[in-house]
Amino acid sequence: MKVTRAEFVGAASEPGRFPPPRHPEVAFAGRSNVGKSSAINRLLGRRGLARTSSTPGRTQQVNFFAVDDRFAVVDLPGYGYARVSKTARAAWRPLVESYLSTRGTLVGVVVLVDVRRGLEEEEHALLDFVTALDVPALVVATKIDKLTRAERTHAERALAAAPVPVVAFSAVTGEGVDEVWRAIATWTGGRKR
Ligand code: GTP
Ligand code: MG
Repeated sequence: MKVTRAEFVGAASEPGRFPPPRHPEVAFAGRSNVGKSSAINRLLGRRGLARTSSTPGRTQQVNFFAVDDRFAVVDLPGYGYARVSKTARAAWRPLVESYLSTRGTLVGVVVLVDVRRGLEEEEHALLDFVTALDVPALVVATKIDKLTRAERTHAERALAAAPVPVVAFSAVTGEGVDEVWRAIATWTGGRKR
């Protein structure tokens, strides 16, 4: 999918204080440092649009990006990082759950998981939460470039048990970009590549 325009349109750090919905929205959720912001930048072809960092817990707000005035990408704060402040940790659940459960324009959720960790309790809980809302989800297994062939086979076997489709992805090599775009196109009612 060719992206002509991608721009930051707003952020929220408190439940309910989200910018008014204008387009169908695709949310990116997952553990801290898993590569949510990097995946968004890679998919949109914009290097520094969503801020990335090697320090986990970089994104603590819900960030909204409009894409070609057609749909929006939502970068959700990450969970599961012990070193962010207690306040930030306690704020995560109400903020993310408020977004997911009240956003009528939410058409799909990309749940990112580090391919080396696979699906853990938090990812299953998140997938259950999203599925209960009747919103489609996709698991994106990030950092696939870090695995050897043997490790990859092993990881793919473990991920085959996921309750939703899984895409192997790398923000570094671009692997999986087309597949994620296909899901986004289906959810947003756009044309496929
Ligand atoms: P928070 O905002 O803290 O929740 O993190 P995030 O999920 O947005 O992760 P971010 O995109 O900031 O990436 C975290 C680190 O992982 C950065 O150092 C990235 O360069 C690196 N990274 C992200 N995706 C990939 C990938 O596919 N492959 C490799 N090798 N590194 C990646
Ligand atoms: Mg981030």
